Amino acid sequence: MHNILNNSWIMLYIALFFMLLSVFLSFMCIRILKKKNSQKLKFQKKISKLQWRLKNAKQDLLNEQDAIQILQKHMVESIIILDDCDKIRLANDSAIKLLKIDKNQMKTHSIFTLINDNDFLAALRESKKNSSVKKKLKIDGCYIRAYMNRVELAESYGTIILLVDITDSVKVEDIRREFTANVSHELKTPLTTIKGFGELFGSGMIVEPDKVIKYGSMIQRESERLLFLINDIIRLSEIEEKTERNIQKISLLTITEDALQVLNEKIEKSDIKIILPESDFIINGNENYLRELMINLIDNAVKYNNTGGFVKISFDNKLDKIQISVKDNGIGIPEDSIDRIFERFYRVDKSRSKERGGTGLGLSIVKHIVDYHKGTISIDSKLGEGTEIQIYLPKNVE
Ligand SMILES: Nc1ncnc2c1ncn2[C@@H]1O[C@H](COP(=O)(O)OP(=O)(O)OP(=O)(O)O)[C@@H](O)[C@H]1O
Ligand SMILES: [Mg+2]
Repeated sequence: MHNILNNSWIMLYIALFFMLLSVFLSFMCIRILKKKNSQKLKFQKKISKLQWRLKNAKQDLLNEQDAIQILQKHMVESIIILDDCDKIRLANDSAIKLLKIDKNQMKTHSIFTLINDNDFLAALRESKKNSSVKKKLKIDGCYIRAYMNRVELAESYGTIILLVDITDSVKVEDIRREFTANVSHELKTPLTTIKGFGELFGSGMIVEPDKVIKYGSMIQRESERLLFLINDIIRLSEIEEKTERNIQKISLLTITEDALQVLNEKIEKSDIKIILPESDFIINGNENYLRELMINLIDNAVKYNNTGGFVKISFDNKLDKIQISVKDNGIGIPEDSIDRIFERFYRVDKSRSKERGGTGLGLSIVKHIVDYHKGTISIDSKLGEGTEIQIYLPKNVE
């Protein structure tokens, strides 16, 4: 009996021991699992953080690639990046086109062997010595402002080149300079004549009535030329500034008749037949400017005509535009002058135009008036056969 009791106690202890052991083990298991879980969670967090960073980096890279692509394809200015060996790391399309760079050799050859333009290469050599160069170059007929800077690249040195086309502003500057020189010249000539004859009168050397009449009328003619010139210059800058914005409904026939009235004396002296338009058109426009336009066109057609010639004025409907045509069978314009006759002071035959009282501003004023009305102008002329000037004006201009 005592033995049995002892055995039961032993069994109980053993059972208790195993129970405690299993509780302990399960507790340990839970702890390990919990720890593992939290490690797993931490790890997952780290991975998703890394993924997020990777995604951002990828997006940044794409944005940078986009920016480079925009520079490459759409930037009007030319940009080139050279490495230390003068090989092209990057050249946008505009640079490739301007400098005629062979795309296949671009990455393998030095820029000095790829480009023939000596001025460009000289500026590049200079930039290596001076680290920064700003030069005006003429490349392929265009004026280019070149900026070349030595820069530190990631692992070495290189050069960044920016080429900006400044042809338009150079042209505007040339025109302005030419205009000032021309105006001074045109003013000087009649003023010198007036001064000379004035001095002769003042010194009492001209007393005979026929000489007084002759030199007096010369002074009058030169003063008139001067006045015409000054009026034309004022008109031109007025239209250019577009200060007078006076748009109204205008009868083209009426302004043509007004223009003919102004030119009446000249036309009567000239023995030129004027053929008027068959129908009238009403358009929106600036009356004074359009009258001035007709005066200049008819004046030229009469002035550069031959005795017995004709001037035909006509209007036509062309969709949303009205065509005004002034055609003559006069002396015509040489082919190489056609593109230039709208330039200020340009005259095909300076002496002939001057002798007919021309200053070379008429067609320049016409061009400005057409631009003011957002129209276009075209010219068809053959030397010795005649000239037709066609102007297209929108029917409704604000
Ligand atoms: N219908 C034409 N036929 C032949 N030549 C013309 C005609 N119209 C213009 N030209 C030429 O174009 C030049 C420029 O014309 P434009 O009207 O601008 O000046 P201009 O007649 O010389 O002077 P302005 O009109 O200022 O009195 C003229 O000098 C002339 O050589
Ligand atoms: Mg003229």
